[in-house]
Amino acid sequence: MPQSDGAISLDHDTPELARSYDDAGLVQFRHGKFLVGPLAIRSGEHVLDIGAGTGRLAEFVAGLVGADGRVSGIDPLAGRIEIARLRQADNLQFDTGRAEDLSRFHDTQFDAVYLNSVFHWIADKDRALREIHRVLKPGGRLGLNVQDPSRPHQSRVLLRQAIVEAGLADRRQESNPVLGSTDAELSALFTANGFNDYRSELRALVDIHDDADSLLRWSEASAFGNFLEAFSPSERTLVRQAFARLVEDKRTPEGLSLERYLRFAFARKAPTVD
Ligand SMILES: C[S@@+](CC[C@H](N)C(=O)[O-])C[C@H]1O[C@@H](n2cnc3c(N)ncnc32)[C@H](O)[C@@H]1O
Repeated sequence: MPQSDGAISLDHDTPELARSYDDAGLVQFRHGKFLVGPLAIRSGEHVLDIGAGTGRLAEFVAGLVGADGRVSGIDPLAGRIEIARLRQADNLQFDTGRAEDLSRFHDTQFDAVYLNSVFHWIADKDRALREIHRVLKPGGRLGLNVQDPSRPHQSRVLLRQAIVEAGLADRRQESNPVLGSTDAELSALFTANGFNDYRSELRALVDIHDDADSLLRWSEASAFGNFLEAFSPSERTLVRQAFARLVEDKRTPEGLSLERYLRFAFARKAPTVD
């Protein structure tokens, strides 16, 4: 049963959502390139992709590290890892696993670790950052992008409005929580877990969707089923209808054009002092 308290569950994913995520995965992939670019990943490096999903970005990074490097991707959702494993390369490996438990990896194993559109989903962020710090080499780089609750995506704002128009205003928080971390929260978390040289930047990214249906399908697949799950099927239909009306305001000749806001954050583990 879906949870009605707004808590994130890893149990709502289905093979269909995983396939649908992979089909539409170019959206996150594009944002992922803005993440791995500043990480300056080089040939021969060992890189960890946490929350790798269906593996599109990890496959791209495997091309950057080349035959002498290695990319490991982990994700808690078995259905997503199954698709990721179809991407075959000698320097690329996928396993199920969570950010909070990297015990399968040795201390100081990786040159770089990144999380693309993952950090807002992680329940125990302190524990995840402690683990990432442990598996990074001295001087190793961390990069992540995350929703910023002070700047919700345009689609989220419209969805909240649609919930109100559907007459369900009293349940809009629990059914559509805005997850994420602000600059101040990230800075405090990174510092508390031993990282240096923290910097972050909020970027506005434009996504184009054909119609309201494909946008909502993508949102559901991206959220591995944690989407409007507090509502009954008939309530969900009302919300979807109201959303479809509202989102037409964003129609351009290319399709529905909506801005998403992601905070990109980078830091390093301190280098060894001789
Ligand atoms: C929006 S998808 C992003 C997937 C991938 N990084 C990409 O760029 O396409 C979010 C991913 O975060 C993963 N996730 C959720 N909780 C996690 C956790 N505690 N540790 C690691 N990954 C997690 C989900 O399983 C999902 O695949």
